[in-house]
Amino acid sequence: MVKKILITGGLGFIGGHLIEQLVKDGNCEIDVVDSLANNSLRPEDLKSPCIRKVYTCSVEDFDFSDKKYDEIYHLASPVGPAGVLKYAGKMGSMILGDTMKVAEFASKMDAKVIFMSTSEVYGKDPGHSAQHENIEKIVPAKITTRLEYGVAKMLTEICLHNYAKYNNLKYNIIRPFNIVGTGQSTKAGFVIPRFVHAALTNQPITVFGDGKQRRTFTHVKDIVDGLIKVMNAPISGEIYNIGNPANEHSVLDVANMVKACAQSNSEISLMDPKELYGKDYEEAWNKIPDISKINNHVGWSPKYDFKSIVQEIVDDHRMTLSANKFRPNHEY
Ligand SMILES: NC(=O)c1ccc[n+]([C@@H]2O[C@H](COP(=O)([O-])OP(=O)(O)OC[C@H]3O[C@@H](n4cnc5c(N)ncnc54)[C@H](O)[C@@H]3O)[C@@H](O)[C@H]2O)c1
Repeated sequence: MVKKILITGGLGFIGGHLIEQLVKDGNCEIDVVDSLANNSLRPEDLKSPCIRKVYTCSVEDFDFSDKKYDEIYHLASPVGPAGVLKYAGKMGSMILGDTMKVAEFASKMDAKVIFMSTSEVYGKDPGHSAQHENIEKIVPAKITTRLEYGVAKMLTEICLHNYAKYNNLKYNIIRPFNIVGTGQSTKAGFVIPRFVHAALTNQPITVFGDGKQRRTFTHVKDIVDGLIKVMNAPISGEIYNIGNPANEHSVLDVANMVKACAQSNSEISLMDPKELYGKDYEEAWNKIPDISKINNHVGWSPKYDFKSIVQEIVDDHRMTLSANKFRPNHEY
């Protein structure tokens, strides 16, 4: 049977890599919905015969009424520490409203949903980055746009659980930790694209705060593998952390590794991110996942080591710069 798949946010960073893998696996027909708010790909970049149609509209405006899908990967959302800032005050209702619209239609058409939540649901406390599902573990933080993003994703998780109690909804929730790879927007404020771009254009590599905050970085291909494994498993109603604890580094170490891989002469300087993004910007503290649950349930574990990921991104970015290749939502 040919699987009918919908990917919301399919022209984005993760969506593009997910489509590449699904097309390789074959035996599927894919529709994409993307508002072009932060796309990395243009609709015409999706060339496979497996791509049925690309709808360039928001999830809110997408008409599900005449559609039938077996699987929905719901990726569409504002993203990135800087990318979310322009959605202040609107993002909460967008994330919840879009996802519940997807859930309602999925329930009617018996499609299975993957919802992309976030590690931001763990708040700022490093002790809570393990596998927790209780909302009392969220640390009440300052009211910022970043908090609106994390709490909106958390509320959406809760609504999905409650909706599924009374409706036929098959779904799983993914909480990703720092996904990296080629094609990630340089505008949303993600650390690696920012550093790589600065290193290759001889601009200062600006590290926020003292640079001691720790992150774990996971190759987008590992994430895609996890999403597909969770979609294909006969499991519903679960939450999975997804990330690579072996790739844990301080942000200052990351700056040095990027500089070395790019053989760059850029200086590394410490700065207050509020100088760059305004007073509503909030930096996260340590983010380190416990991935034992996804490993136990579907046998997923990440494969790519950090140095090879950084080198791949540097090489890709260098090639894009030298070829003067156009990518939406990338600054060159
Ligand atoms: N990249 C990460 O490190 C990371 C970490 C945690 C969670 N996530 C989650 O993963 C998902 C995908 O992230 P990404 O990094 O690929 O982001 P991305 O911005 O590259 O892709 C998201 C895509 O969704 C589109 N979009 C945004 N709002 C939309 C809407 N209302 N309707 C239709 N399309 C819309 C954008 O144009 C973009 O192409 C998001 O839900 C995000 O919250 C990402």
